Amino acid sequence: MVETSYCRVPVKLIFKFGDVFPYNVYLKLSDSKIVKLSHKDEIIKDTILRYHKEKGVEDIYVLKEDYLQITDYFKNQFENKLFNPETTIEEKVDLLEKSYSMVKDSLVFAGINQQSIELAKKISESTLRLINESKNVFSLLLKFSANCAEEYKKSIVIGYLCSGIIDNFDWKSDSIKQKCSLAALLCDILLSPKEMKEIQKLSLELPLTPAAKITVGTHPQRIIKTLNIETWISKETLAMIEQHHEEQNGTGFPLGLVHTHISQLSAIFIVAMRFADLLIENNFNFQNKDSMLATIRSKYNLGVFKKAVKCLGNLVDAKKSNQL
Ligand SMILES: [Fe+2]
Repeated sequence: MVETSYCRVPVKLIFKFGDVFPYNVYLKLSDSKIVKLSHKDEIIKDTILRYHKEKGVEDIYVLKEDYLQITDYFKNQFENKLFNPETTIEEKVDLLEKSYSMVKDSLVFAGINQQSIELAKKISESTLRLINESKNVFSLLLKFSANCAEEYKKSIVIGYLCSGIIDNFDWKSDSIKQKCSLAALLCDILLSPKEMKEIQKLSLELPLTPAAKITVGTHPQRIIKTLNIETWISKETLAMIEQHHEEQNGTGFPLGLVHTHISQLSAIFIVAMRFADLLIENNFNFQNKDSMLATIRSKYNLGVFKKAVKCLGNLVDAKKSNQL
């Protein structure tokens, strides 16, 4: 199988970082056949890789043994590109989204590694900066809807909502907002596309199948365990990841906590995540904001959740329909 020796890299990332790519690049023709497209240090624009990109190939492959070095290579190039004043906000979203898919693959294929951790942290910090820079986050996302992975799009929206809700609290700080942004990036990162579909059922109040209950129902703990997350993130981010599917009345998972055992920050994160689901389902149609808010208000009305929803209401009501 190709997957045992090679790892996937978005082809766009290679073209974003200069003229030369210092690794061999391969094209997958089938599950058992792979061919070399370009050699280490070749000038990319002169290779057949460009032809395949123009033909619409989205992913190429690199040797598994090169993969961690490549992740590190992208991490170093990533900031240069993001901080370059000539990089437009649209290019930044595209770059962040492609880098997110790289981190996800890296964690799935290569397991926990320092290169991916650092890239994940950089993406979450940069996403928050992008949210602050953007005058209209949702119109920006709508523009990229077709090309932006659902998971990354959702993490931007959660980061934005958490940030706006936290602004209502005395303890607001950029550091706390960054913790939310990182939790939003990581909380579903190990879910497969099929599992992601299952999880969307939850926002529609549909029950999970028995099989999904086992795989999807344990993903918060799986992320914490597989990524050994306790060793490299804050306790607040850890709690948000662990509790992001809990409900105020104890009907959530995996722990079935009630609201008195959920922190204010986790409650903010949960409310932001549910509102993000509704916004995405409504295709960011802000005309429906009152019914979306009513859904959230009816679902979350106790203790720390009540406070979080009140602040979400302040954020949403303060925005005109075309300015969120
Ligand atoms: Fe989740």
